[in-house]
Amino acid sequence: MGTILVVGPDGYFNADISIFLSSLGHSMFQASDYRSALLRLDEHQFDAVIGDVRLPGGSISQLIQEAKGRSKSTAVIIFTDSDTVKEGLHAVQAGAFSFLQRPFSLPELNFQIRRALQANLGHKEASAGPDDELYRPYNILGESSSIKKVFKLVSRVAKANISVMILGETGTGKELVAGAIHYNSLRADGPFVRVNCAALPEQLLESELFGYEKGAFTGADKTRIGRFEHADSGTIFLDEVADMSLLTQAKVLRVLQEREFERLGSNQTRKTDVRIISATNKDLFQLMREGSFREDLFYRLNVVTLRIPSLREREGDIGILIQFFLKRASAEMKKDIRGIAPDALRILEDYHWPGNIRELENTIERAVLMADEEVITAEDLHMFFAGQPRSGDSGGLRLPDEGIRLEEAERQLIQQALERCGWVQKKAADLLGVSSRVMNYKLQNLIKAGLLKMP
Ligand SMILES: Nc1ncnc2c1ncn2[C@@H]1O[C@H](COP(=O)(O)OP(=O)(O)OP(=O)(O)O)[C@@H](O)[C@H]1O
Ligand SMILES: [Mg+2]
Repeated sequence: MGTILVVGPDGYFNADISIFLSSLGHSMFQASDYRSALLRLDEHQFDAVIGDVRLPGGSISQLIQEAKGRSKSTAVIIFTDSDTVKEGLHAVQAGAFSFLQRPFSLPELNFQIRRALQANLGHKEASAGPDDELYRPYNILGESSSIKKVFKLVSRVAKANISVMILGETGTGKELVAGAIHYNSLRADGPFVRVNCAALPEQLLESELFGYEKGAFTGADKTRIGRFEHADSGTIFLDEVADMSLLTQAKVLRVLQEREFERLGSNQTRKTDVRIISATNKDLFQLMREGSFREDLFYRLNVVTLRIPSLREREGDIGILIQFFLKRASAEMKKDIRGIAPDALRILEDYHWPGNIRELENTIERAVLMADEEVITAEDLHMFFAGQPRSGDSGGLRLPDEGIRLEEAERQLIQQALERCGWVQKKAADLLGVSSRVMNYKLQNLIKAGLLKMP
């Protein structure tokens, strides 16, 4: 659950939204204009700021800058009307997470907020509290023999105080498994701290991990403790561990070997007692050959390897997962969806799910959002799901029998990339190997031509 600021001139509107979102467990704050929004931003750290694209007393892009300047992980969600859609798009270019066009329903708003909070999980503060719930073992579903092997290993390694490296494709549940190890370990009462090493540039990552003293560098106006200190007596989860610089790797190695470190700008050595779980979907052997990942660190991190199977390898699990996500999404969006039509189920079962469980989860949520009936139909899926059935060649692109226009193929890939990344443009751009600018340009053209709709 998050801390959220609603900004806008209409007090009744703000109050309605606040009542709804606080009923879901979020902590809500309100501001009527730009100035009071800034005051709020100074008082609290927000997970999300939501507000109208037309902001009294300032511009929305200024507000985005101010919010992001205070905390990179704050997601901004913008409301537009039909005549301010363009401004909404600009706001997204200026760093907003997404925009919602009026009229929208409250569950649709909640859906966006949940996505934004999820996308930010990677660089959130150390947290113990409500979202620990996510990591409870009963939330990790699966009956297939390949996932049961993982469960078995989790319970076997959890109690031992050893480093575990989790490998697996994107969206397979690496973070969930890391949490499960922690909450089944003897450290379960200690903190479970997550750090996404790929989300931050080198210097920021270092200060995030080890903390800093006031004055250690420009902008360090107060002392801050780092994640290794936060995680004392608990577990730290280093996600995307391959993305650490060699210097940071050396410091992490020292924590593993000596259990000690210094805050940036301090020469006082500190002790910390943490268990390290790491994850990556990169080939570390290749990186070690290239000299960009330390071998000694690799062997320290990788005392036990846990490989999470892809959804394709999890025979029979897709049905269980669909039911689970369907129930959750329809409850969340206050819809009464009872199930899925056989032809729709077949489409989902035939798809090869390169984005694994996360992609499945997004697909089901979107289908629930679209559905008008009590049952998800193939049509609900076709409206947005361009899933190609799995083909013999491990899911490579396949030219449809009737051919396809190249532009249409591009459109479908862009849409799929955006969906998989929860509409975070930067990530979608990475998936497609283009710069954010190119992505933006293409996106704008598609929207202008009416070929793509933002959620
Ligand atoms: N077995 C499962 N049962 C239910 N939900 C799951 C399961 N595995 C994963 N999920 C859900 O799928 C999504 C992706 O999981 P997670 O973030 O743990 O994957 P990941 O492997 O860390 O992905 P990435 O490589 O992109 O970081 C999450 O929303 C998670 O709650
Ligand atoms: Mg992850």
